[in-house]
Amino acid sequence: MLSRTLILKTSALKPVEKLVRKSFFFRPLVKRFIAGDTLEQAMAACQTLLDKGYNVTLDNLGENTSTEAEALKAKSTYIQMLERIGDQDLSANPIEKCNISIKLTQCGFDLGDEFAERNYRDVLDVARQHDNFVRVDMESSAYTERTVKIIERVHKDFKNTGTVLQSYLLRTDDDVQKMIDLQVRIRLVKGAYLEPPTVAYKEKRQVDEAFIRQAKRLLSEAPYPAIATQDEKIILELNRYVEEKKIHKAGFEYQMLYGIRRDLQERLKAEGYNVRIYVPFGDAWYPYFTRRLAERPANVFFFLRAMFKG
Ligand code: FDA
Repeated sequence: MLSRTLILKTSALKPVEKLVRKSFFFRPLVKRFIAGDTLEQAMAACQTLLDKGYNVTLDNLGENTSTEAEALKAKSTYIQMLERIGDQDLSANPIEKCNISIKLTQCGFDLGDEFAERNYRDVLDVARQHDNFVRVDMESSAYTERTVKIIERVHKDFKNTGTVLQSYLLRTDDDVQKMIDLQVRIRLVKGAYLEPPTVAYKEKRQVDEAFIRQAKRLLSEAPYPAIATQDEKIILELNRYVEEKKIHKAGFEYQMLYGIRRDLQERLKAEGYNVRIYVPFGDAWYPYFTRRLAERPANVFFFLRAMFKG
């Protein structure tokens, strides 16, 4: 069976990227995970989900920007997203029906923390005008400490922001404590990047245990935590926990990725849990797409088999 590491390493090779981007065969799989190339297409996908009773998070795909012009362009796209959501009255009521996620690397993190923070604060100003919320996605461990530091600073001025913590990192129990102390809204995920054993757990069992431990702490002590996973076993365990502790279903949400485990999304919603779908869009979909394939190597395997059969 193809391993996660192998998929992530192979897909990072330029000729492989070129093949996947150009290939007609990969289109259906790309479409399953990505809501479209444009904001309008993504908003249409969001509307379909909202009509079904989900909340959504809009994510403009893209990673590191290497010039100021690129970073400013990313910032203006974020602002455009917030304005578009504001036009449709999908902001807080009491929790946002449609909020956004951003990446500090898109805001120009590689050009300096101050520059990225300024852009992030500009986005938050607009979000505040629209009574909306902006979450900073967590990227590779090279950025974790700097991201946590920026969140600590910015959250003092903007309560309408939060971030993501990754259970596979050895440092995350401490970060959970820090964010509980600051009452920052957290999305907990397992973590999607290729990380060395010096900073991350390598065994799935260890990651799952950390996730459950940290999710329980957040559910009990943090403001409106988001438990972001498609792992049904973990979700069932956490459902039992909230029932036992009498934690109100309105006090937290499950989050899942667009196109993944729709059956589970539907079931949780029907059981009265808040479910938010993370809706990615944009033409820079390749790195996001390969992380999704790597999480479930069977996706690649089934796909390749179908391709060669056909
Ligand atoms: P795990 O990978 O163990 O999978 C458990 C089960 O879920 C699988 O057995 C399968 O049934 C199903 N499943 C999972 N992935 C699938 C796929 N691609 N296709 C089909 N089935 C699949 N990461 C990060 O580093 N920074 C971030 O900011 C975010 N943000 C984020 C937001 C949201 C809303 C979600 C749901 C996830 C993220 N992630 C993330 C990604 C996260 O770190 C993690 O890589 C994925 O959620 C996959 O892990 P699971 O928790 O689903 O468990």
